[in-house]
Formats: sequence, structure tokens, C-alpha cells
Amino acid sequence: MSLKLNTLLLSRRDIEGIINMCEIIKVVEGAFREKGLGRVQCPSKVYLYYEKYGGDLRVMPAFLESINVSAIKVVNVHPNNKKYNLPSIMATIILIDPETGFPLSIMDGTLITCMRTGAATGVATKYMSRKNSKVLGLIGAGAQAFYQLIATLEVLKIEEVYVYDIDEKAKVNFVNMMSVQYPNIKFIAVESEREAVDGMDVIITITPTREPHVKVEWIKAGTHINAIGADAPGKQELDPEILKKARIIVDDMDQAIHSGEVNVPITKGILSKKDICGELADVVIGKVKGRVSDDEITIFDSTGVAITDAVTADLVYKRAKELNIGMNINLIFK
Ligand SMILES: NC(=O)c1ccc[n+]([C@@H]2O[C@H](COP(=O)([O-])OP(=O)(O)OC[C@H]3O[C@@H](n4cnc5c(N)ncnc54)[C@H](O)[C@@H]3O)[C@@H](O)[C@H]2O)c1
Repeated sequence: MSLKLNTLLLSRRDIEGIINMCEIIKVVEGAFREKGLGRVQCPSKVYLYYEKYGGDLRVMPAFLESINVSAIKVVNVHPNNKKYNLPSIMATIILIDPETGFPLSIMDGTLITCMRTGAATGVATKYMSRKNSKVLGLIGAGAQAFYQLIATLEVLKIEEVYVYDIDEKAKVNFVNMMSVQYPNIKFIAVESEREAVDGMDVIITITPTREPHVKVEWIKAGTHINAIGADAPGKQELDPEILKKARIIVDDMDQAIHSGEVNVPITKGILSKKDICGELADVVIGKVKGRVSDDEITIFDSTGVAITDAVTADLVYKRAKELNIGMNINLIFK
């Protein structure tokens, strides 16, 4: 055992630019593989509800036994934070040495949340979308949107992206920025959810809405949907009729039933657990198919799992050590 006395503090600025989406997708896919092989401890998130403020707080621990990585994330979701000029989601991650319990690092988890959520979408899209998918619809142009986009671009040759957000400014800014960053892709700001859904090969929904805004009649055969926004009880973005006719894969069965896209239809008895084909982990290890035919509608229901935070935090920590980034502090000893 090498005795470590210092805890590495890493801010968002430290983390920015030291890891890229391609490598995060690899470690996140690896984390789902470990889950599929039964080699992780990843209990469901624990929630606190700040009802009078319209927000919540989640605690997310994980241990990946075979790669000896363990971490815990504390993360909030406050959709009304714009008025305080704060992100809706802010997170802190503590990376733990499983051998001793020592806190190896305390780091910003806000950027890591965006990146690992994007990466999970990338993994799901790789296994579940049609390989010739070219047109992407994106509903929600907030903090997560960019990472959802870049992860999708890692796994598909997207040519056109249709973007809708109820906030006109957020939508137009996103489209303008992406048009500069990716000049070979056509970005179109659209005026309705329907225009971001109708005729798309892949759809990503990433809003905090509780009113389903994607209608079944807009979805063409063969579309893959990444339903990312619903991650707490009562949230839903898709017309339940879509779920009834689709092949549904979740990131975690218990979390999805509690708080994913399926939570409201299951609570109302419109859908049941047996309508869910399996977990992304099962797809990655080849136990369950992500897609069976070119004309089926597939849905990845993402709630966000702690193993994906842990492996991304581990990647960040190792890279920061290599690059001598961050601040070492003696947190514990006299
Ligand atoms: N599954 C996961 O792992 C995961 C991870 C992170 C965030 N989330 C969820 O994703 C959602 C978005 O997170 P964020 O950090 O991007 O939030 P954000 O507040 O930065 O952005 C949300 C965007 O959605 C838009 N929006 C709200 N309601 C809408 C509607 N009805 N139609 C179209 N646009 C609408 C807002 O104007 C805003 O631009 C939240 O619900 C969050 O809890 C899920």
C-alpha cells in the first residue's frame, strides 16, 4: 500500500480540457460492462426534496470492485436557478481509496455530470440507433445539451441537428455557437417540439418538464430516442404511447422505475416493469439486444448512475496527477 497523505482539490477550471468525450465514452462503457458482469456496488440515489424551493439533492455512491474505483457524488437539481445566475445542477465528487477509505480527491462534479451524462447517451446511441442515422433532434438547449451533442457526434455521422427550447435565447445561442464549432453540420433552430421530432433518426430530450411534450404521431419508425431529462419522480418528456410501442432500455432498473422516463406511466399503470427490455449494462455485455430491427422505435431511459461519475472522476484524478494540476491539501492530519 502506498500511503497517501494529501487530498487533491480539483476545480472545474482544472478539469476542463484534460479529458475528452472519446475517452469518457470508453470508461463509461467499461463501467456499464462491469455492472453487467455484477462487479459493482451502486445503490440507487438517495433524494432530499426541497419542495418550497422547487429543487432536490441526491447522494450517489459507487464502487467498481475489479478496477478498484470508488466515489460519492452529491448533486442538486434546481431548474429555477437561472434567476440566481447559478446552474440548475451543481455537483461535488469525493474519490475514495477503497483500501483505506482515504479521500484521494475532492473535485467539481458539475462538468463531470455533463460529460458522463453525454457519454452514457453516446454508449446507448452506439448500441441502439440505426448505423446510418444522420438527422438529430434536440429538445432542451441548457447545460447538458452540448455534451449530449458531442457524445452523439462521436458515435454517428450526423449531418443535420434540429434544436428546440422554450427559451428562445438559449436555443439561438446554442445553434449559433454550434454552427461555428461544427461548420460541416447544419444546425437549425426550430419553433416547435414537433419540428425537432418529426422525421428525426435520433432524438434527445433533455428538459426538466413534467408535461410530456413529444407526441407519438411525430415519431417515425426506426427512431432512437435518448430520454435524459426525467430523473426524479413526476418528471416525464415523452407521450406514454411512445413508450408502449418502443423497445425500452434503462440505465438502472430500480432508478428508472423510481425516477426515470418510465416512472409516471408505471405509477399510473400505463406501463409495467415487464415492458422494459433490460439495462444498458445487459446490452453492453451482449445479454440483451439494443435494437432488433431497423423499423422499431428504441428508447434509452437515462437517470444517471453513480458508476459513470466514479470512472470519470478516476480518469480526471489520474490525468490531473500526470499533469500536476490541482491543489494538494492536508485535509485530515494534524
Ligand atoms: N439522466 C441524467 O443522467 C441527467 C443528468 C443531468 C441532468 N439531467 C436532467 O436533464 C434536465 C436538463 O438539465 P440541464 O442541466 O441541461 O438543465 P438547464 O436548466 O441548464 O437546461 C434546461 C433547458 O430546458 C429548457 N426547457 C425547459 N422546459 C422545456 C420545455 N417544456 N420544452 C423545451 N425546452 C424546455 C430550458 O429553457 C433550458 O434551456 C434536467 O431535468 C436534469 O435533471 C439528467
